[in-house]
Amino acid sequence: MTTDTTGTAARDDEPRPGGPADSPFVRACRRRPVPHTPVWFMRQAGRSLPEYREIRANVAMLESCRRPDLVTEITLQPVRRHGVDAAILFSDIVVPVAAAGIDLDIVPGTGPVVAEPVRTAADIDRIRPIGRDDVDYVDEAVRMLVKELGDTPLIGFAGAPFTLASYLVEGGPSRTHAKTKALMYGEPELWHALAGRLAEMTLAFLRVQIEAGVSAVQLFDSWAGALSEADYRRFVLPHSTAVLAGLADAGVPRIHFGVGTAELLGAMGEAGADVVGVDWRTPLDVATRRIGPDRAVQGNLDPALLLAPWHVVEAEVRRILEQGRAAPGHVFNLGHGVLPETDPEVLTRVVALVHELSAGPVGRD
Ligand code: CP3
Repeated sequence: MTTDTTGTAARDDEPRPGGPADSPFVRACRRRPVPHTPVWFMRQAGRSLPEYREIRANVAMLESCRRPDLVTEITLQPVRRHGVDAAILFSDIVVPVAAAGIDLDIVPGTGPVVAEPVRTAADIDRIRPIGRDDVDYVDEAVRMLVKELGDTPLIGFAGAPFTLASYLVEGGPSRTHAKTKALMYGEPELWHALAGRLAEMTLAFLRVQIEAGVSAVQLFDSWAGALSEADYRRFVLPHSTAVLAGLADAGVPRIHFGVGTAELLGAMGEAGADVVGVDWRTPLDVATRRIGPDRAVQGNLDPALLLAPWHVVEAEVRRILEQGRAAPGHVFNLGHGVLPETDPEVLTRVVALVHELSAGPVGRD
C-alpha cells in the first residue's frame, strides 16, 4: 500500500521520507541509522503533568480511555510539552479486558481491580473474543491522533498474557503473584487456556490499533520478572510469541517490555520483538549481549533518578547513550513509567539533552 487513506503509512515498504514510518523512532526500532537517538517515556501521559491532572479531574480513568476526544488530548500533551520522538496512546492494559466482558475498575492509587477474579474454566469462558466494534473508541482515537500527529509516530500497546492474567487471577495488584503462580503450577492446562485466551484478545486489540494507523506497538509484560527463565519459557513465552509473532506480517516494529527481567532478556527477544525493553537493573551493553545483535533496545534510566539534582540526571543520560551504542538500535527511555512526582521540566530537559548529545548520524546501515 502506498497511500495513507487508511492510516497505514507505517506499513509501506517504502516509507514516505520524513513520515512516521521513516521517523528516528521507527528507524531505531528497525536498527537503521538515525539523525539522533529517539526518546520517549513510558507513562509520559499522566500524573506528572498538571494539564493531565486538570483534564482528568472529574473523569474516571476507564471512562477517559473510552472518550476519543480525551484520549487524543491526553496523548498529545507530552508531545507538545517535551518534544518527544513518539506519542503513546493514552489507554490502559485492562481496557480490552473490560471490553471482553470482565467487570473491572481502575482504582486511583491502587490500579486495576476485578470484581470476580478469574480462576476456573467457567471464569475463562467469561472472557469473550473482541473485535473492532468492541473497542471502536480506540479505533477512533488512533485515527484522530494519526491525523493530529503528522510525522510523529504513535505507539499502540497492550498488556501481555502473564501480566493481564495476574490482575485477573489475583483480582487486583499483587506483590507476589501467588494465586497466579498457584494456578500456573497446580493447574497448567487451565493456565494455558487462560493465557491462550488472553493472547487472542491481545492480538485482536493490537490489530485494531495497527489497522487504525499506529506506527509501532509495545507489549507490556510488566510483571514477567516474577518468574524464573525456565518457568517463563514454559508458561509464558508460547503465549507472548503468539501475540508478537502473530504480528510479524503487520509491518510495524514490536517492542516487548518487562521489569526485573535481567534473566529473561534473551527469551523475551525470542518472542518475536524487534526491540526489547530493559529496566534500570541491566546496563544496555550487557542487555545487548544477552538479547543478541538482531534486536534494538529501549530503556534503562531509573524513573526515581529523575528526582535527583540535574547534574546526576545528566551524567546518567550520558552513561545510557554511551552504553546504548553497543546495541544495533537504541530508543532512549526509562526503565519503567514516569513517577507522578516527577518535575515535567526535567523530562523536557532530558529530551533536549538526548537530542543534543546524540546529534549526527548514529548507527550502521
Ligand atoms: O505510557 C503512557 O503514557 C500511556 C498510558 C498508560 C497507562 N497505563 C495509563 C494509566 C500505559 C502504557 C499503561 C499500561 C499499564 N497499566 C501497565 C503496563 C505498564 C507499567 O506501568 O508496567 C500496567 C501494569 C497497568 C495497570 C495499571 N493501571 C496500574 C498499575 C495503574 C496505576 C495505579 C495508580 O493509580 O497508581 C493504572 C492506572 C493508570 N493507567 C494511570 C494512568 C495514567 C493512573 C490513573 C490516573 O491517572 O488516575
